[in-house]
Amino acid sequence: MSHEYFNPVRSVYGAGALASLPKLLAGRRALVVTFPEARALGIVGRVEKLLHGQLAGVIDDVKPNPDVAELRTQYEAFWREPDSADVIVALGGGSAIDTAKALMVGTESGRFDDLLAGLAGGTGFVPAKLKTLIAVPTTAGTGSEVTPWATIWDRGAQKKYSLHLEQTWPAVALIDPELMLSLPAGVTLQSGLDALSHALESIWNVNANALSDTYAVAAVHDILDALPALMKRLDDVDLRGRMALAALKAGMAFSNTRTALAHSISYEMTLRHGVPHGIACSFPLPMVLERAIGQRRDRDAVLERALGPLDAAPRRLSGFIEGLGVKTRFADYGVGKAEAEAMVAHALTGPRGKNFIGMTSEVMA
Ligand SMILES: [Fe+2]
Repeated sequence: MSHEYFNPVRSVYGAGALASLPKLLAGRRALVVTFPEARALGIVGRVEKLLHGQLAGVIDDVKPNPDVAELRTQYEAFWREPDSADVIVALGGGSAIDTAKALMVGTESGRFDDLLAGLAGGTGFVPAKLKTLIAVPTTAGTGSEVTPWATIWDRGAQKKYSLHLEQTWPAVALIDPELMLSLPAGVTLQSGLDALSHALESIWNVNANALSDTYAVAAVHDILDALPALMKRLDDVDLRGRMALAALKAGMAFSNTRTALAHSISYEMTLRHGVPHGIACSFPLPMVLERAIGQRRDRDAVLERALGPLDAAPRRLSGFIEGLGVKTRFADYGVGKAEAEAMVAHALTGPRGKNFIGMTSEVMA
C-alpha cells in the first residue's frame, strides 16, 4: 500500500523573516491585502518601507470571515486593472489569506459572481488569469498559508463556499513571529486553539498518513506546552515563535488531510451562534476525541503519541482547553441537548464530517 504527502509551499520562517519580502518578490509588484487594524499596529508601515516602488496598493478593509458582499467589490476593483500587481501579499490572519486566495483567481469577465457560480456548479472552476500569492500570517493558527483552500461566506444566504483549486496554493509562507507580538490575548488564544484543532483533526482523519501524523503530533506537543505559557507572556518573541512553528506544523498536517468533525460542527456554531472560528472548532475537541478513541487501532496509537494514555486523554484535553478559559460543552454556548444532537448528526454528513474516522465502516486496523 502506498501513501502520498504533497505540499508545494516554500516556508520561510523566524524572527525578522519579513525582511526577506523584497527578495522573494524579485522585482515584481505587489498588492497587499490586510485587516483594518494593521496600519495602526505599524505592520502596513513596515511593509510599505520594505517595498517602496514595488508596492502596487493596499486593500486594508478585510473583515473577519470574508463575505461575498465585501469580496465582490474588492475582487472586481482588483481585476479591472489586472496588470497593476503580479503578486498578492496577504498580511493577516485566515481572513486576509482567504480573501487573497479569492482575489488571485481571475474570471474571464472579471466578475466575482462568475467565480461563485463556478464554485457552486461542482464542475470545477478554471481561472482565466492568475496571480502569485505570498502569505504572511500575523496570527499563529490558521494554517491557511500552507493550504490551497479558503472559505467564502454568504451570511445573507446562511451558507459558505469552499475555494479549493490547484492554483490557490500560496507560493511562499513567510512566517515572522515579530508580527504576532501585538496580537491581543483573545485572538492569540483563538488562533492557538484553531491550530490545536487542525492537528487533532488531521489525526482522527480518514486521509491521515505517516507524514501528516508526524507534523500533527509535534504540533500538539508544542501547543500543549507553549500556548498556556504564551497566554501569560504575550510579548515573549520566543514563545510567539514556538506557537508560529506549531501552527505551521499543524497546517502542514491538515494540508493533506483536511479537517474533520470538530470543524464540521464549527461552521454551524459560527453561522448560527456567532462563535469565533478558533473557539467553535476547539470546544468540541474533547467530545470528538471520545468518539474517535476505539474506532481504529492505528489512529488510537497516534492519538496516544499526541495526548498520552487514552483513558485519561479526553479529561486531559478538556482540562487544557477549560484551563485557558474556554468551555467545552454545547450548553455553555446556549445550545440545548436536542439542537446539539441535531447539529452533530448534520455535521457528520458534511464533507469535513465524512473525513472523521468514526464515520467509516473500515475494519479496525
Ligand atoms: Fe480551523
